[in-house]
Amino acid sequence: MKKSFIILLAAALLFVFAACAAQPPAAEQPKDTEAPTAEPIEASTAGPTGSPDAGSTAEAAPEPHSEVLVVYFSATGTTKGVAEKLAALTGGELYEIVPAEPYSAANLNWNDRNSRSTIEQNDKASRPAIGSDALDPAGYSTVYIGFPIWWGEEPRIMDTFVESYDFDGVTLIPFCTSSSSGIGRSGRNLAENAKSGNWLEGKRFGAGVTEAELRAWIDSLK
Ligand SMILES: Cc1cc2nc3c(=O)[nH]c(=O)nc-3n(C[C@H](O)[C@H](O)[C@H](O)COP(=O)(O)O)c2cc1C
Repeated sequence: MKKSFIILLAAALLFVFAACAAQPPAAEQPKDTEAPTAEPIEASTAGPTGSPDAGSTAEAAPEPHSEVLVVYFSATGTTKGVAEKLAALTGGELYEIVPAEPYSAANLNWNDRNSRSTIEQNDKASRPAIGSDALDPAGYSTVYIGFPIWWGEEPRIMDTFVESYDFDGVTLIPFCTSSSSGIGRSGRNLAENAKSGNWLEGKRFGAGVTEAELRAWIDSLK
């Protein structure tokens, strides 16, 4: 009887030890504060599909051209300023005609009969080379084309530009800046030399032209 009591007691003790061993010690249990932040960052940012290919199959679409392009040549910055305002007002892109050989102040001296600009303007066949990257005119439906007046006309580099591209299907709108001269026959010269494109009547602006004046002009063209 005593022996069987001892066996029973041993069995009971064994059961109690076994039950306690199934629980982690208090020190190993997660603390309340750890629970919300313990998740790995990857788990919270992974997409629902989890597929590594998800979203990478579509090819990047080519950047569409703005429909409006504002082309300009500017020797001393006045036409550039007007071109930038026009681009902002129309949402157009800008393209600067940069001469392959920049014009120095001496080149621009209209009092010198032998200055580069005087010699070029006296020769209607002169075609100064363009140094800026070639333009891709595809996708532009309207091109504003700006320049300073030199000796009453467009600088000859503008003729180099219009002869370099095919403007079929494009509407071209000349604009110029000057001290006082009007646009004269510059727009017609450009249209004749381009031999392509739908050329509208151009307009002359002074250095101080306002955005409101430019806006009114743009609206008048519609
Ligand atoms: C070589 C040369 C010739 C010019 N001829 C004329 C002209 O015939 N009539 C006029 O009003 N302004 C004339 N100008 C002044 C420019 O047209 C004017 O300053 C223009 O706004 C300059 O533009 P930009 O700063 O974009 O080069 C001439 C300027 C130069 C450099």
